[in-house]
Amino acid sequence: MSDLQTFADMIGGAKRLVVLTGAGMSQESGIPTFRDALEGLWAQYDPMELATPDAFANNPKLVWDWYQFRREIVNKTTPNPGHYALVELEALLPQVIIITQNVDGFHQLVGSRDVICLHGNIQQDKCAGNCQGDPTIVDSSQLTWDDAPPLCPHCNRNYLRPNVVWFRELLPTAELERAQQVCLEADVMLVIGTSGVVYPAAQLPFLAYRSGAKVLEINPSRSTISEIAEIRVAGGSGEALPQVVKLIREKA
Ligand code: OAD
Repeated sequence: MSDLQTFADMIGGAKRLVVLTGAGMSQESGIPTFRDALEGLWAQYDPMELATPDAFANNPKLVWDWYQFRREIVNKTTPNPGHYALVELEALLPQVIIITQNVDGFHQLVGSRDVICLHGNIQQDKCAGNCQGDPTIVDSSQLTWDDAPPLCPHCNRNYLRPNVVWFRELLPTAELERAQQVCLEADVMLVIGTSGVVYPAAQLPFLAYRSGAKVLEINPSRSTISEIAEIRVAGGSGEALPQVVKLIREKA
């Protein structure tokens, strides 16, 4: 039996499937992963040094522009067959819960019903001081800016910033707690397109593994998760996931 068939059988037999996705999930949509080299204007910057509270404090306009750039990439791209395949899985299994580190919103866009967003949503902005409570989401579509990000229209004091989690910031508590809980209850955990180096997301597959779940992975390269993965499909998720769903359907 091929590895892919065994892989599909394990997913097809899952009672409580939890899927953890990272930037690789959207790579075939045309969104560069976090650690991919960028082209053009932004090639000289290290994303790891822009996505921090310190970077925003030091140069708010630079960080704001960088996120405008990333937002434009998301707006120019669309979900790929991998995203749709995960929606199809919902009809085939008793439970599918997606935990995503991605901020592009593609899982929700294609109709996945239970998505836990650990790192926020790049389409939204919030008051950098969360003046009306955490998070103070603001619609910036009618606002203008020039040499600084727009000011929060509520307090007129803090800048707006994207509603994403930056390095050294805490993840939203309710989302993280639920993600940990569903990992403890999972019987199969499928990890897609994450290098597994950013915590606490990277610790979730280990949590599932230690509480008895089988861990599977789709990633063209080895990651920190590969050591506990029973099978790693060494390919892109946009191609592999539709094949997996097809194999599950054929046995259903
Ligand atoms: P990374 O950029 O670290 O890793 C992307 C992973 O996707 C790598 O392991 C690639 O081998 C894999 N990959 C590439 N193409 C793929 C494809 N077509 N199909 C499947 N896998 C593919 O991204 P993340 O692990 O998501 O955090 O990074 C985690 C977090 O670090 C991000 O959410 C972001 C970042 O800094 C914040 O913004 C807080």
